[in-house]
Amino acid sequence: MPELSLRKLSERDIDLIEENFQSFEGASAWQWFGFWDTNKLRTRLAKDQFIGSDDGALAVCLGEETIGKVDWFSITSWGRANTSACWEIAIGLFAQHRGRGYGTEAQRLLVDYLFAHYPRHRIQATTAAQNIAEQRCLEKLGFSREGLIRQSQWRDGAWHDQAIYSLLRREHSPAD
Ligand SMILES: CC(C)(COP(=O)(O)OP(=O)(O)OC[C@H]1O[C@@H](n2cnc3c(N)ncnc32)[C@H](O)[C@@H]1OP(=O)(O)O)[C@@H](O)C(=O)NCCC(=O)NCCS
Repeated sequence: MPELSLRKLSERDIDLIEENFQSFEGASAWQWFGFWDTNKLRTRLAKDQFIGSDDGALAVCLGEETIGKVDWFSITSWGRANTSACWEIAIGLFAQHRGRGYGTEAQRLLVDYLFAHYPRHRIQATTAAQNIAEQRCLEKLGFSREGLIRQSQWRDGAWHDQAIYSLLRREHSPAD
């Protein structure tokens, strides 16, 4: 059984992201916001390999095969940026790899990575109120549901509620 891992994004991964996420079916109903400028991905890869001080992204790999990506970025809306910043995480798996436990495992690896390499004490995640798969992933990882951010996201011709979850450092037990 190939092992799941996270590694730095490559040029080939950017091609795969472009091929897989530029449609309703590929991005999924909860993540399709219309076409976007994928040249930005190449510019970013050339700039800092997607490892920034306020955000980053990694490829999700099953053995040698890239099956999606995870992202993290700074949230500074809870107080002053230099004292109250936390991470928000996000994930997208290519459609054929969904529903096999990889989304839960990839986010477990990302949470372990972020708590190990940065001193921040809170990781949050927001997801469409109807995105049960992502909500189950977060719950299985020990995230607490904090509530609904009402009518916060424009998608598919309407405003949608987002569920917000968080995991604090003291609640986190890293995998062996
Ligand atoms: C959301 C996503 C990361 C979940 O990863 P996944 O590998 O598909 O999910 P898992 O196989 O780890 O399943 C996690 C849980 O969700 C459940 N689940 C999976 N697919 C489901 C679906 N379509 N509907 C309802 N529940 C679902 C599983 O049964 C499991 O719960 P259980 O352990 O209680 O049975 C993945 O489906 C994906 O990339 N979707 C498109 C992009 C997206 O929605 N990203 C998240 C928003 S930021």
